[in-house]
Amino acid sequence: MVVKKDNIEEIKKAVSGESVDVAEDEEKVEDYLEEDLDEEIGEDSIEEEIIEEEVVEEAEDDSEEEVLAAKKVVKKTVKKKVAKKEEAPKEFSLTDLPGIGPAVSAKLESAGVFDMMSLAVMGPSELSDAAGVSAAVARKAILASRDILDLGFTDGSEYEKKRSNFINVTTGSQNLNELLGGRGIESRAITEAFGAFGSGKTQLGLTLAVNVQLPKEKGGANGKAVFIDTEGTFRPARVKQIAEGLGANPDKVLKNILVARAFNSDHQILLVEKVGELIKKGEPIKLVIVDSLTAHFRAEFSGRGQLADRQQRLNKYLHSLTKLAEQHNLAVYVTNQVMSNPAQMFGDPTTAIGGNIVGHASTYRIYLRRGKQGSRVGKLIDSPNLPDNECVFFVTSDGVVDTL
Ligand code: GTP
Ligand code: MG
Repeated sequence: MVVKKDNIEEIKKAVSGESVDVAEDEEKVEDYLEEDLDEEIGEDSIEEEIIEEEVVEEAEDDSEEEVLAAKKVVKKTVKKKVAKKEEAPKEFSLTDLPGIGPAVSAKLESAGVFDMMSLAVMGPSELSDAAGVSAAVARKAILASRDILDLGFTDGSEYEKKRSNFINVTTGSQNLNELLGGRGIESRAITEAFGAFGSGKTQLGLTLAVNVQLPKEKGGANGKAVFIDTEGTFRPARVKQIAEGLGANPDKVLKNILVARAFNSDHQILLVEKVGELIKKGEPIKLVIVDSLTAHFRAEFSGRGQLADRQQRLNKYLHSLTKLAEQHNLAVYVTNQVMSNPAQMFGDPTTAIGGNIVGHASTYRIYLRRGKQGSRVGKLIDSPNLPDNECVFFVTSDGVVDTL
């Protein structure tokens, strides 16, 4: 395949934060993802290789524009083929329902109803109020959505089959894994780590990004990670160090982490959509990390009157992350800062940013803090199916571990 080597070098520099213009940086990282993808596809598509050689050879003596055009043709064919290979399940939108046009759908979105599932569980009068349609239209739309989603019971064995497809990613610490139910973070769920500056949230994220690449029997998912970096804290050197600790090839491990720097909350939202596209193109992404989930939202909507707006956008964002996790059976790990809460009189007077909105969307929330003798303490908060326990772990040069 045609891979522009010097371009990759530049992008690697960009990822490691070496003097690159911010907008350029963004563009290059995306280019990098594209090229990396093409290279991957080429490896398992012999037919494709032949097509490309032919086209490129033909175009070799021609002008530069023609060569470029030829490459475009090749790229198009590659993408079509992959799309055929993996039939994506049809995605329904609200406007597929009777009586719901784009205007009503937009109204519903602003009321926090983004997809069919949210609509299917509403009552007719609730929907009629939110959408400004008659009760009869609302009832019809609800029934249609329930039909489409095939809501109802699943027998136990079917359910078990679904559960057995879940994947887990080890945190690197057995203690922390146990806290999360035994096998680390889980697919089809959002795991949120919140805690003060330096509590280990990013370190846990980097460790997970490496561990997801491990084979299943070693606690991984044989997959790639996406790292959405809002604060510029992704450190390639640190990733390599953690990989070396596992005896893995550091460069290969780094290559399997697709990094994108999100420059504002809009960009952060857009990048989640891009993850869906990458998966559809065949990238085996099994973990999505957002570090940090809330920083941009917090900075951009800081005025008193903007709180409702911020929460609404955050809610929508979390919703799209949940959907991504469900649809593609992948794990999502997000980090969140804390703010001091003077109203709390006992215990630790810190609260996670985003309040209940983030709390409800996260399946597992762990509160991280520094413990004695350089240790870290993780506390599971309000889990629907696990006890609110605490555990101790360490952050070392090998990443997250049980003991020093
Ligand atoms: P904010 O993003 O600032 O809110 O903090 P965070 O919770 O993301 O903190 P982070 O995960 O970056 O943790 C930083 C801490 O991890 C440092 O203070 C060190 O204690 C520890 N740490 C990071 N890298 C290494 C390393 O290579 N070796 C060791 N032993 N510790 C490390
Ligand atoms: Mg951090």
